[in-house]
Amino acid sequence: MKTTIAEVHKYVGQQVTIGAWLANKRSSGKIAFLQLRDGTGFIQGVVEKAEIGEEIFQNIKALTQESSLYVTGVIREDTRSPFGFEMGIQSVKLIHESTDYPITPKEHGTEFLMDHRHLWLRSKRQHAVMKVRNEIIRATYEFFNNNGFSKVDPPILTGSAPEGTTELFHTKYFEEDAYLSQSGQLYMEAAAMALGKVFSFGPTFRAEKSKTRRHLIEFWMIEPEMAFYEFEDNLKVQEEYVSFIVQSVLKNCSLELQTLGRDTSKLEQITAPFPRISYDDAITFLHEKGFDDIQWGDDFGAPHETAIAESFDKPVFITHYPTSLKPFYMQPAPDRDDVVLCADLIAPEGYGEIIGGSERIHDYELLESRLKEHELDPDAYKWYLQLRQYGSVPHSGFGLGLERTVAWISGVEHVRESIPFPRLLNRLYP
Ligand code: 4AD
Ligand code: MG
Repeated sequence: MKTTIAEVHKYVGQQVTIGAWLANKRSSGKIAFLQLRDGTGFIQGVVEKAEIGEEIFQNIKALTQESSLYVTGVIREDTRSPFGFEMGIQSVKLIHESTDYPITPKEHGTEFLMDHRHLWLRSKRQHAVMKVRNEIIRATYEFFNNNGFSKVDPPILTGSAPEGTTELFHTKYFEEDAYLSQSGQLYMEAAAMALGKVFSFGPTFRAEKSKTRRHLIEFWMIEPEMAFYEFEDNLKVQEEYVSFIVQSVLKNCSLELQTLGRDTSKLEQITAPFPRISYDDAITFLHEKGFDDIQWGDDFGAPHETAIAESFDKPVFITHYPTSLKPFYMQPAPDRDDVVLCADLIAPEGYGEIIGGSERIHDYELLESRLKEHELDPDAYKWYLQLRQYGSVPHSGFGLGLERTVAWISGVEHVRESIPFPRLLNRLYP
């Protein structure tokens, strides 16, 4: 019976064959332990000389790291391993012999590992991060499908700049100029007017010259947009969505979180509702904490966000930022014009902003004047303005950065480990 490691629990006491790679091994004179992986999981294979004979035992002992194999043996329960099963190996068929695999069990530097990302992905830790990422993606679709949202795919090649013009990736579109999408939001607003509650899930691009643990040049964003949702309604969707993905990972990735050494008690606390603090109060709080340099009107840096996040054990919404700090499309607060109806969601444990969102301006004249203030060409945004001409309604939405969320939930230090092939300031390879 041919099966996979993920399925071996169905075959306890039975003989099965698994296609696998040899991740690692150790052996003595009489017994060898093979760490096998097949993509679906990791399992230990045990080879006993007394059972299979000297010659086969020596052949197996000589197998090299990352050689591909068909391994046949009997599945046993193994209460000592977190996985819970092992294989008593009866025979091994070599498919392809791997020689001098570059990533040995010793420690390697980050740049070396990043140069070998195409192979590094095979490691147990990286495998675990990718499984957590996959679970977040799966849970995202489940959440939005269960809550009446339709998935809409905005274009990647665009002529407009939702988040400001400094970070755009320029390209030629035949004779015209075009940019790679930095956010699908504006298109999602049009989609919300057609379908009510929508979400997108796609790659976005920022030519940001930032080299931090939170910045990628290419990253994936989930962007929901809801017609008739006002500021508070928007926050509610966000806290329920983020709680849902955290609880889904806890439920479905317990082995991976264990591999990653993640403190799951911190994740168990992540349930809606989340605390809120206004930008004004955050400034006062920072002054009390001794951040004398920051003034009303300044944007928060990573140390500020971390200080605020540290005083809560859940993600925290920072709301009502100064209008001058935010993009042109945000709705002003009803009682004052100097702040907007927006919120950034700051993850705990120093992972920073994982969501940016707001209520959108739905008044035509106000939106047009904001475009002009931001020196954006109203002609390029004609279609966007038209959404305010034909049955304009209050509406809101947000964008969640997938990689920052994966990094936080997995507990990995840097976003470069939370995407299969990171695009960084100085990295386009592999
Ligand atoms: O705050 P941002 O720029 O918001 C928008 O783009 C809105 N148009 C979204 C919306 O309302 N539909 O980006 C949203 C999120 C951030 O909170 C962060 O998680 C992530 O995208 N993000 C990045 N992730 C990795 N690398 C970068 N360079 C990122 N820039 C933003
Ligand atoms: Mg933001």
